[in-house]
Amino acid sequence: MNQQERDQMDRAQLQIETLTTELMETQRGLTALTFELEERVAERTASLRESNQKLKEEVAEREKAEEEVRRLNEELELRVDRRTHELEAANRDLDSFAYSVSHDLRAPLRSIDGFSLALLEDCSDKIDDMGKDYLHRIRRSAQRMAQLIDDLLQLSRIVRRELTRQPVNLSRETREILCHLQEQNPERKVELFIEEGLTDEADPTLIRVVLQNILENAWKYTSKATQARIELRKENHEDRPMYVIRDNGAGFSMAYVDKLFVPFQRLHSDDEFEGTGIGLAIVRRAIHRHGGTVSASGKIGEGACFRFTLGPSVSDVGGAQCE
Ligand SMILES: Nc1ncnc2c1ncn2[C@@H]1O[C@H](COP(=O)(O)OP(=O)(O)OP(=O)(O)O)[C@@H](O)[C@H]1O
Ligand SMILES: [Mg+2]
Repeated sequence: MNQQERDQMDRAQLQIETLTTELMETQRGLTALTFELEERVAERTASLRESNQKLKEEVAEREKAEEEVRRLNEELELRVDRRTHELEAANRDLDSFAYSVSHDLRAPLRSIDGFSLALLEDCSDKIDDMGKDYLHRIRRSAQRMAQLIDDLLQLSRIVRRELTRQPVNLSRETREILCHLQEQNPERKVELFIEEGLTDEADPTLIRVVLQNILENAWKYTSKATQARIELRKENHEDRPMYVIRDNGAGFSMAYVDKLFVPFQRLHSDDEFEGTGIGLAIVRRAIHRHGGTVSASGKIGEGACFRFTLGPSVSDVGGAQCE
């Protein structure tokens, strides 16, 4: 080997040593990186394990809470059922009490009325005009009380009646009721607007009672209007039909609107318009038995408006009977 070849060998040796050092350094770097990576993977695994554990605990807690809600719901349903039965029984008792009291009251009332009449007819020569006036007043009061008792009985019958829903043509019912009122008061001129084809599922008897009372009111409270008008229309309320009966009669003050549906509460005196104040209480009960709502609005001297819905029909609730 000559000098040149020896120099080449030395340079190659030096290169190999440099490369080896570089390689070892890279190896050390790689080892450090692997170590760091492993540490991070271990940390991440630990934190994932922790979150997993937390999630499991949360799921278990949620299941426990759901179970508790289910149990409470069942307990609540049971309590509501029991309370409903108790209330129904109390209601039935109260109803039959009202019923028998009303019946028992009728007999003495008939006596008061009958004997007052007997006095007027049989002893008329022995009674002066003032006495006769008193007897007439006694008879009028007895008859009014009999009317109140009849109204109370009708109110209690609405609650006791079995509800059977079927399609009812409200437009036709309205026309019939108004025609009948027109026949009874042929002298009156009332402009009517009845929207055609309004049909809904309702108990035919109860819905007739509802329409009759609202329309009789409209008829009565428009009796002093110069150009009386009564309307039946349908509006939509929360995707359900809402029936609207409007008149342009005496109206009422909205300050007392809460009293309207309370039995025997009247916003007009007997001198202005006669009545016992039971009609709208009956309307409210009949509508509530359908699961519907009824409301009123009005303005003194401008008229009144009654709106009602009939609750979900049989087809809406998948065949279940709805009250
Ligand atoms: N269309 C209406 N316009 C103005 N006021 C009304 C109307 N409908 C009802 N009212 C008011 O609401 C009150 C209660 O009405 P409700 O039908 O219960 O009783 P009523 O008509 O007085 O007597 P009845 O028991 O003979 O029906 C009425 O006395 C009246 O003051
Ligand atoms: Mg009335």
